[in-house]
Amino acid sequence: MASSSGGKLWDKSEPLDALIERFTVGDDYRLDSALVAADCVASLAHATMLAAIDVLTPGDLEELRGGLLAALEQAEAGTFVIERADEDGHTALERFLTRHTAAGARIHTGRSRNDQVMAALRVYGRDALAALQGLVLDLVDALLGFAAEHEWCSMPGRTHTQIAMPSTLGLWAAAFAEELLDDLALLDTCYRLTNRSPLGSAAGYGAPLPLDREQVAALLGCDGPVHNVLAAANSRGKLEAVTLDALDQVALSLSRLAQDLILFSLPELGYVTLPVELCTGSSIMPHKRNPDGLELVRARAATVSGLAGAVKGIVRNLPSGYHRDLQETKRPYLQALETVAGQLKVMRLTVDRLQVREEALARALTPELFATDGAFALVQGGMAFRDAYRAAAGAGVAGSAPERGDLHTEAAASARRTGAGAVGEGPERDDLRADAEQAMALRTSTGTAGNLDLPGCRRRSAVERRRVDGAAARVGAALVRLAGRPVQVCRSAWLAPREGPGA
Ligand code: ARG
Repeated sequence: MASSSGGKLWDKSEPLDALIERFTVGDDYRLDSALVAADCVASLAHATMLAAIDVLTPGDLEELRGGLLAALEQAEAGTFVIERADEDGHTALERFLTRHTAAGARIHTGRSRNDQVMAALRVYGRDALAALQGLVLDLVDALLGFAAEHEWCSMPGRTHTQIAMPSTLGLWAAAFAEELLDDLALLDTCYRLTNRSPLGSAAGYGAPLPLDREQVAALLGCDGPVHNVLAAANSRGKLEAVTLDALDQVALSLSRLAQDLILFSLPELGYVTLPVELCTGSSIMPHKRNPDGLELVRARAATVSGLAGAVKGIVRNLPSGYHRDLQETKRPYLQALETVAGQLKVMRLTVDRLQVREEALARALTPELFATDGAFALVQGGMAFRDAYRAAAGAGVAGSAPERGDLHTEAAASARRTGAGAVGEGPERDDLRADAEQAMALRTSTGTAGNLDLPGCRRRSAVERRRVDGAAARVGAALVRLAGRPVQVCRSAWLAPREGPGA
């Protein structure tokens, strides 16, 4: 069945098969409702620049400004309508402008939908990336606060999930803070790549007009234009892929944090308890309190990774220039930004509310935890490490209680540097706790438990916070100059700072 291509920007009164229309539009028109405000902002900058180079008259610009600000208001309120027949939000915006103003027919001068889509995605993406960086820092600060509170709380460090060496809850929490600060560097790179303007690249080959690409970039609060017009066109999908790879790393960190907490809160370990309001119940087992939030943080890390793979798969085999394939990168991009924001909010809430059970952590300290420290005590006495390792292993493998006690005695002796073990028949809990504390005291290297430099970590976080807030403020000020008022580019409640679901 043929329908008409009427209403499309490329309509030349030729028929379009209805199935092809449904298939090619997909749900792009629905996804675009997230991008309309960003498109209004980018269109305002484009029109302002066209007037500055005398392609539009001051009267045209005034009309277009009025139309675009009216559309922006609707977009911010979530009432701007995009029909499937529009094909996408960019068409709907032009239709809105032509319906309300005579100058509407001039807005597309010197641009293609390709640079229009990219500009909208970049204006949206930089806002989302600024919000995400703020959420990462919120979680970093929560972890550093938790680390400070439990800096000296001993616990078993594990490898292979098995008991390994004495550690602290502070070391554990501060490790995730540092990992997330590293992830933040990736998001910052994405932000800086995103905050450049593709406008004026048109379909990837520029336009025979004296388009002032620097001016339009400055109006948008971008750091500058993407220089090469074909590089600008080719950045569609590639920039999304880079961003999703960075989000994949954030989600990976969060997944491990969630997985640790799922383990730590097992009744058999009971190192921490999740408060009841963070748990969901079972429909059949009345006693259940399940860590579904943490489980979904873990599962959605796999989803985000899949979305990153999907975008790279789409882009990888495309020749230069625009291809409709690129439309297919929009959903994964928007979805991953929201998903990771949700994960960050859930993890921050969880860290804020975690209840630590110090007695369970003390109970978890066992003599074999000190086997390696025992070997190092022998090394301090001059023995070669491999011999000391075998000696400590020899004390441990037989596994009988007294021998395990000997092993512990070794470590305790090393910790106290007195040679006197306090365990006698079998180590007492308090002794083990004291031994763990002294084992910490023997660790003097940078970054070990007891040498976490939490104030230094907090300073690093504060520097990052100032950078993120400063960049957002510069963009916000540019948009106030452009639109005459503050603009809400991104309506997603998940991406809203500290507000919305999960805040
Ligand atoms: N909805 C399309 C997209 O997101 C808009 C761009 C269409 N451009 C084109 N040359 N057909 O990719």
